[in-house]
Amino acid sequence: MLQRVLLGVNETKLEKRLLEVLAHADIVVQPLLRKGILWERVGREPCDLILIARSLVPRPAADSVRALRQLPDAPVVVVLLATEEPEDRAELLAAGCEAVLNPRLSDEMLWAVLSTILDKRRAAAEERLSRGRPLARPRLTDFVSASPAMRAFMNVVRRVVPTDSSLLILGETGAGKERLARAIHAEGLRGHEPFVTVNCGALPETLLESELFGHEEGSFTGATRTRRGLFELAHRGTVFLDEIGETPHHLQVKLLHALQEHEIQRIGGERPITIDVRVIAATNRDLPGDVEAGRFRMDLYYRLSVLTLTVPPLRERREDIPALVQSYLDYFAPRLGRMGAAVSDSALEALCRYEWPGNVRELINVIERAMLLYSGREIGLGDLPESISSLSAMACGELPGVPARAEPFPRAWLERPLRDVRSEAMAHVERAYLACLLAETGGRVGETARRAGIEPRSLYGKMRRYGLRKEDFKTPRDDA
Ligand SMILES: Nc1ncnc2c1ncn2[C@@H]1O[C@H](COP(=O)(O)OP(=O)(O)O)[C@@H](O)[C@H]1O
Ligand SMILES: [Mg+2]
Repeated sequence: MLQRVLLGVNETKLEKRLLEVLAHADIVVQPLLRKGILWERVGREPCDLILIARSLVPRPAADSVRALRQLPDAPVVVVLLATEEPEDRAELLAAGCEAVLNPRLSDEMLWAVLSTILDKRRAAAEERLSRGRPLARPRLTDFVSASPAMRAFMNVVRRVVPTDSSLLILGETGAGKERLARAIHAEGLRGHEPFVTVNCGALPETLLESELFGHEEGSFTGATRTRRGLFELAHRGTVFLDEIGETPHHLQVKLLHALQEHEIQRIGGERPITIDVRVIAATNRDLPGDVEAGRFRMDLYYRLSVLTLTVPPLRERREDIPALVQSYLDYFAPRLGRMGAAVSDSALEALCRYEWPGNVRELINVIERAMLLYSGREIGLGDLPESISSLSAMACGELPGVPARAEPFPRAWLERPLRDVRSEAMAHVERAYLACLLAETGGRVGETARRAGIEPRSLYGKMRRYGLRKEDFKTPRDDA
């Protein structure tokens, strides 16, 4: 992260010295050496630290320091005080100054204090940037990858981690592109620096530009204050450009410049700002197709896609589903107060058959919903959305462990009158239904009857008629 220091001293010699003390690649110092208008200028520049001589702070000092602390970005204030005036010093500290330093201290001592203050501030800012993200530092090892497709993919990913080139992640929505980007960042060379995300499809053009590169005060309507862009905030870290395919054409040019020249310019700004960031871009669009159709700049595409990873969709790695289900059962159990939640075999089977157009994100939503809904011993077919539960083997006419009496649609029916077929089909459906329900309840008649909305006695009668025995539906756990 690039930090800004506003330097307000009215002695050229001291200013020069402090500029040298603060000369560091990650610190930009702006000297404000014009007595008189200094106080007005201070409030316009966003910054992390205001280092200011006591003589330039209007009295009463308490009010002035408070005003500084309330500026955008809430900078920390350090006052330079050459004389020993204990009362004055105490007043400044009480008003919220981070430190009061005597400019006669050695260069080393000044740097030791100022760099400590800046480090603390940087840590707090990074904490703020990552707040609200449950998996701010996901690891590659947390990535469920039980399937051969995913294991092969992760082997490629591991080779990309130690590099510092731009990276393009392709894949369907919800497949794990952002999570992958975070993990690659966290385990790579920049792992301890910020990871900043921008959704290039979510903002109108001017706002997106300002979000990325920042703006100077008054550069467009609404730009009432100078603001730093995410490229500046991500200095030394990684910028994740999500939905890169949605970036307006004019910004594609600016992005390319930032990537090639390692510098950016705020909107309305005059001087370029050098930045050191790794860019990881992602999209669910067919980016090469967009390039061909002229919607996306070819030069930018080549620049971004030095390395390209394509996350396989969940339906191409169904072996991951049981492990993903388990890992999200474990994740939600304490959060939803449903410890020990489990999924029935038939429900798991349906989950494994589903196509998952929304990939892992959809699966997480289905699990969370089911964990809120289920009332039986475990999550059953009935707790899953219809589009998924209808895929269960039983719903498809296969009754595991229970020999089916007839095929779903026996050809022999075609030889007989409809009246006969109808009653036989009804019996067929009734039997399949009861078998499913018994499987779900582990053969418990009371619960099955309740869920079917019939009397237990009537259920016993039907079970006898259809040759369904409750012992056949007992799960091993019931015997224990
Ligand atoms: N392999 C995985 N293991 C565990 N969770 C995953 C995995 N892949 C994706 N997720 C989770 O699925 C959700 C969607 O992933 P995300 O990275 O946002 O997808 P995308 O950016 O491709 O739309 C996130 O909550 C993410 O943590
Ligand atoms: Mg995403």
